[in-house]
Order: sequence, then structure tokens, then C-alpha cells
Amino acid sequence: MWKNVTPAPEDAILGLTEAFKKDLRFAKINLGVGVYKDEEGHTPILDSVRAAEKQIFEKETTKNYMPIAGEKIYGDEVQKMIFGSLCDRSATIHTPGGTGALRVAADLLAKFSSKTIWISNPTWANHNNIFEAAGLTVKTYPYYNAVTKDLDADGFFAALEKIPAGDCVLLHACCHNPSGVDLSAGQWKRVAKIAQKNGWSALVDFAYQGLGDGLEADRAGVETLLASGIEFFVASSFSKNFGLYRDRTGALTAVAATPADATTAMSHMMATARVLYSNPPAHGGMIVTTILKDKELCKLWRNELDAMRTRIAQARAALASGLTERGVPMDCSFMTKQKGMFSFSGLNKDQVKFLREERAVYIVGSGRINVAGLTPGNMGFVCDVVAEAMKR
Ligand code: LMR
Repeated sequence: MWKNVTPAPEDAILGLTEAFKKDLRFAKINLGVGVYKDEEGHTPILDSVRAAEKQIFEKETTKNYMPIAGEKIYGDEVQKMIFGSLCDRSATIHTPGGTGALRVAADLLAKFSSKTIWISNPTWANHNNIFEAAGLTVKTYPYYNAVTKDLDADGFFAALEKIPAGDCVLLHACCHNPSGVDLSAGQWKRVAKIAQKNGWSALVDFAYQGLGDGLEADRAGVETLLASGIEFFVASSFSKNFGLYRDRTGALTAVAATPADATTAMSHMMATARVLYSNPPAHGGMIVTTILKDKELCKLWRNELDAMRTRIAQARAALASGLTERGVPMDCSFMTKQKGMFSFSGLNKDQVKFLREERAVYIVGSGRINVAGLTPGNMGFVCDVVAEAMKR
């Protein structure tokens, strides 16, 4: 079966971690995958998560199957988190991570939409793979202007105007991955207006809620789409904001035109989930629900989330000033304006290769640096070698 098969290429992000593990050099640094690290370079289990796990361990009485859609209480908490309150024209299922949510949405779009999805250029490296695997046609719209290091607003809105009714547009709710360039409140309103006028739907990837401007502020885009009355999906991930990476904890929410349509959407989300993975893994969802339902734990979690966001912002500022001090041939102030875990550094493919091969510093091929992986211990060295690469 495999004799004449070409091996699949290394994954653009997770494949880097595998290559990193095999690298025998001592002073190696992995700034590829978007994983938060504390000042000691460790990806911690949050105290709120530990406390919730303790409760679950004591109270859990069965490992029976989960409902296909997950527990209703989890879906309700997800809606309150992404919308601020429950929404009666929406339905939420618990999915294995944000990727699971995206894949369920992709299968539904392949079944019930015009089968074309528009993704930003650039976007998360896995979007394309997920949508193509579901049989969708993937097209791109301009998003990032490499010269201004900001939104290519003209290109973006001109492209949105031309997207036909029935297609779907993938949008990043906040902390655009990889560029860190987010839409302003006014720009979200314009997006919603065009969607309404042209009749396309949206799939909102919400993987970093709380890591941009805060839990409430980060839902501004989703709130605007909701207020506009259009139909859309929200794919949530709790990998980063709860640190539940390996527990694969996410959700897919379908916002339909009416409550009755939401019930129909729920039936198809469940039918699709049943085929893809049957029912979701329970543990991460139980942690999220336990934390969000418990006032004290929720307060603790929010403090921990705020602390992560603050540390990332500090690392971002230190990277920009460290590079400036080393005389790099560019204005680095854009790095402090970017939102989320990443800095889209502007490093080109050769510079990225130099960092990996000559300096054992791993970043994503697009030039994306995981700022959340910078620590007081590695900051000076990273600034040295990134400056060296930039000057080449
Ligand atoms: C990333 O972009 O690094 C994360 O979303 C992890 C992943 O699965 O790629």
C-alpha cells in the first residue's frame, strides 16, 4: 500500500516541534507552536484547572459516553463566554479542540453552502488543510500589508464586496493568526454590513479569547456579527485561554436565522460529529464548565488569563526594544501593536532557515514568532540571533 506513496510533508507548525525534539544542539529554542510558557519556560497547568480537576476527580462517577453534542451546561457556558449571554437562535456542540469545531463546520458548509470558503492571506497553516479535506474550494482574500505591517484595508474590503451569496468567509475573532493584526470595531461593522448585503455567511475562528484585549473586549467582532442578524459559525478553542492544549477542548456554535433553524443546525452538527468522532472527550469540557460555574474558580482563572496576557505584552515590548537596540534595519514598533501570542516578524524564508539551521531557533516558515515562548532567560539570545538574521 505504501511502497509508491510519497511521505506527507512535515506539518508547518506541529512538525516543527517534532524536528525540534530531534535537534541535539544544547542551546535550542522552540518559538514555533503557539503555546504559552511562563517565565521559567514551562507550560503550566493553571491553578484554576488543577482545582477544577481535583473537584472532578472526587465527584466523577462514570466514564460512560458523552452525549454527541456534549453536555448542555457546557454549550450554555460557551455561549455566555462568546456572546456575553445565551442566544436563542444558536446551537453549540462540544468538539475535540478548535480543529474539531472547524472540521464539523467545514463538513456542514460542504453539505449545505455553495462549497466555497474564503480565508485570509495569510492565515493559520491548518485552515487550508481542514477545508480542503472536507471538499470545500478554498479561496483567499487580501488581509495583511507587508509594507505597512497592518491591515490591507482597501484590498480586504474590495474582496469582501465581491464574495457571492452562499459562500462562507473565515474570520479570526481576535489575535489574528499569524499576523496579530485585528479588525477595529468600525471595520467589524463594515464586514457585517457587507455580509448582510451580499448574503455570504461567516465562520469565526475564536482560538484566543482573552489573550488580545481581554475576555469581554475580544468578543466585539462576534457581537457585531450577532447584532447584524446574519448566519454564522463560531469555532471556539480553550487550548490557550485555559491552557488545555492536550485535552482537546473546543466548541462549535451555529448562529441561525431563527430558533427553529438553530434546532435544525443542531441536528446536523450532531449527525456530522457522530461520523467524525462520535462524541467529544469529556475531561477538558468538565474542567471548563467547573471553572465557569464556580465564582471563586472563575475569578482565579480570569486572573491567570490576565496574567498570561500581561506577560505576553511585556515579552512583545522586550522583543521590539531588544531588536531596536541591536540596530535592526526596521521600525519594530509594529510588534507591540500586534495582538495575541504571535509576532509576525517580517523575517523571510531564508532568514527563518538561517535561524533554524545555524542558530537552533525554530519559528514558523511564515516568519511567525511565538512571543508567548520568550522568557527573561532566552530573550537576549533570541534578540541577538533575530537581529543577526534581519541584517543578513
Ligand atoms: C498554532 O498556531 O501554533 C496553534 O494553533 C497550534 C496548532 O495547532 O497549530
